[in-house]
Amino acid sequence: MRNELLIGGVWRQGSEDGRIAVLDPATDEVVTEVADGTPADAIAACDAAEAAQVKWAATAPRVRSEILRSCWQTLVDHTDELASLIVREHGKPMADAKGEITYAAEFFRWNAEETVRIRGEIGTAPSGANKIIVHHPPVGVVLMVTPWNFPAAMITRKLAPALGAGNAVVIKPPREAPLTALRIADLLQEAGVPGGLVNVVPTSTSGAWFDAAVDHRAVRMLSFTGSTEVGRVLLRRAADRVLKTVMELGGNAPFIVFDDADVDAAVQGAMVAKMRHSAETCTAANRFYAEAGVADEFTTKFAAAMAEVKIGSGFDETVTCGPLINKKAVDDVDGLVQSAISAGASVAVGGSRVAGAGCFYQPTVLGNVSHDSPIAAAEIFGPVAPVIPFTDHEEMIRQANDTEMGLTGYVYTRDLAKGLRTSERIQAGMIGLNRGAVSDPAAPFGGMKQSGLGREGSGEGIYEFCETQYIATSW
Ligand code: SIN
Repeated sequence: MRNELLIGGVWRQGSEDGRIAVLDPATDEVVTEVADGTPADAIAACDAAEAAQVKWAATAPRVRSEILRSCWQTLVDHTDELASLIVREHGKPMADAKGEITYAAEFFRWNAEETVRIRGEIGTAPSGANKIIVHHPPVGVVLMVTPWNFPAAMITRKLAPALGAGNAVVIKPPREAPLTALRIADLLQEAGVPGGLVNVVPTSTSGAWFDAAVDHRAVRMLSFTGSTEVGRVLLRRAADRVLKTVMELGGNAPFIVFDDADVDAAVQGAMVAKMRHSAETCTAANRFYAEAGVADEFTTKFAAAMAEVKIGSGFDETVTCGPLINKKAVDDVDGLVQSAISAGASVAVGGSRVAGAGCFYQPTVLGNVSHDSPIAAAEIFGPVAPVIPFTDHEEMIRQANDTEMGLTGYVYTRDLAKGLRTSERIQAGMIGLNRGAVSDPAAPFGGMKQSGLGREGSGEGIYEFCETQYIATSW
């Protein structure tokens, strides 16, 4: 298990003696301690990235691509070990953790293919006086701030395209779950990534760390995944240096079930959309709008499926939902549930925290929730599903869009034309139409409104880590 800082290709202790305790949220026990990076360590990491980036940018795309492909293979070869680290520090079930490694590794394979296909353009100026040549050099040094809910995949979704495009990076992994990030960085060096290109500096003093890194002259870009609240603060600070940004922020996804939907398929999709990775995803379905003709059937069947969920340690292979990340998360979820119940929601299943060690919450379905309830406005980030019945389609669409968030939406209907019309009207970057999962390295991941800026994955993702330069010339 790696528990130091990776700076300039060398593992080292922090410049001060601080340590960060990593807790197992299933038991509340300390797993280990990692070195606590200081602002000075962040600056050293930026210096190292700056020094390594020039040579990497000049390395042939085919060579960069082959190294990325080797990273994919190396991560796949270490699936069991990495998945165990994820379960230990995040708590999600082993099957989800293994799925996360497959997903995380795939960003390397996908971007290995994109690395040799970064395109430019050439055209003739309308005046005929000169040619217009457009090409895409790398940005330089990229700062990455990543979340605890996907300790592997939210790093590789940024890192693989950034490296493919010719950048060097400095990563601040989440203090709750830094172990996976450190081991991945170790494996990437084994896979052939030159030292200094990937620097990983966990810290318990995020604000001071970030201030030091963001002011480093070589840093030209910030890529962040996390809450909208924190994203706003980082954006303001990044504006001081006019950094390029890609921001993957919070969600509040509506999940719409029309009268003509296949209710069993909708329940199956709802379970995926709500519960994957222990219900701690920004893509999670947050509000379930069920049309009056199927609302009772949907609520009853959804509650029955949630009652089958087994909570516990992710190391128990029969468990399908792990703990929440910490006690505060349990308090936050419970606060939303209790206020919805006080406002008149019925409890179809669950409805309270689980007593004892660990940060567990009962899988919960609430019926007859009002769209105006705080639980419909907040990003729940826990295994709780409020069902809001509707009769008027226009009013339902208004309610679905009545949020500053716009990451994901889900629509269930047997009428594909109606499904597509509805999908177009949902103000969200990603829609699952008769599907409960949208995430795919080959698709553009990102949000509208306050859910983010830019896209990760797909053909677009690598260009986020590039500049555009145009050369006017003639011959
Ligand atoms: C997230 O929750 O931040 C990402 C979810 C995903 O990639 O599926």
